[in-house]
Amino acid sequence: MKILFYDAKSYDIQSFERLLAQYPDIKIEYTKSDIDPRTATLAEGFDGICAFVSSDLGKETLEILHQQGIKLILMRCAGYNNVDLEAAHNYDMRVMTVPGYSPEAVAEHAMALALACNRRLHKAYNKVRENDFSLSGLMGFNFYQKTAGIIGTGKIGAVMCRICHGFGMDVLAYDLYPNESLKNLVKYVSLEELLAQSDLISLHCPLTDATKHIINLDTIKKMRDGVILVNTSRGALVKTEDLIEGIRMLKFAGVGLDVYEEETNNVFEDRSEEILEHSVTARLLSFPNVMITSHQGFFTTEALSAIAETTLENALCFRAGLDSPNEVKA
Ligand code: NAI
Repeated sequence: MKILFYDAKSYDIQSFERLLAQYPDIKIEYTKSDIDPRTATLAEGFDGICAFVSSDLGKETLEILHQQGIKLILMRCAGYNNVDLEAAHNYDMRVMTVPGYSPEAVAEHAMALALACNRRLHKAYNKVRENDFSLSGLMGFNFYQKTAGIIGTGKIGAVMCRICHGFGMDVLAYDLYPNESLKNLVKYVSLEELLAQSDLISLHCPLTDATKHIINLDTIKKMRDGVILVNTSRGALVKTEDLIEGIRMLKFAGVGLDVYEEETNNVFEDRSEEILEHSVTARLLSFPNVMITSHQGFFTTEALSAIAETTLENALCFRAGLDSPNEVKA
């Protein structure tokens, strides 16, 4: 079977090519273009396409894919909010995802952000490069015997709980559905209690109507002074304007973000002064205790090879006409 792989980056190509020898029935062609109504016509002659959470898989694109005879959409990611599932269903297309590839990759990055903010590593790195070996502005605090508050204890949050426990922290958690496997490790509490007791707060719940802006001025005010906030989940869990106000109120010892509200607006790809002037993310970056990375939590060799393997297994399921636990339906 032939798959057209859209928006292919060199690291995607490497991780898929490394495994393809084990899948002789699958042929992949790569294109740097992402999929949208204009590029969907490239899929003519292929059986399926491979896309990403940032791709445009709305109704119009799917209609064109349908005209090309495409029956399979392989998402090489967990998210599929960009796919019009109803249209896919109407066109008899199967949509498959990679629901969990490496929770350790994201949780380890969350702890890396927490540590870097706490010990001011981003500042220290720049100071030493400028031959400034003084310690001013670099004071942190021990995580040992402090309290971590983990919001969302699914796959990634559970790993984060274990990491924090390994640091000798008391771990509080808030989730609608407590995770049985953590019962000897964490104490489930209300959101209010978690906010009030934690020295480190890390967000690991999905973005839903209920969690949008879960971190806002009201919840920020309930946090301890000198708290560290980490978000590796989705940007809109945090109301950025309110976060800026909280930083100005000196609420935070540090803020580490791998995701930010403006991620999809190409704020930093465009880099025009006009956009940057109005960008709340750019304003956030002006604070010395804020560290932002560009959604790289998942970006480890292990996670990329797990993504490639599950995507190729999904393709095999399709080819064999089998049900797949990774299929999403309207
Ligand atoms: P998961 O589905 O295993 O866990 C999510 C947890 O959040 C569940 O236990 C669920 O009960 C809980 N939850 C749902 N609604 C809640 C609410 N209103 N309040 C409190 N808890 C709530 O998801 P997983 O795999 O752990 O991923 C978590 C998030 O991490 C994803 O939604 C995604 O946004 C983000 N992510 C970030 C990546 C990165 O590269 N930075 C990569 C992969 C995922």
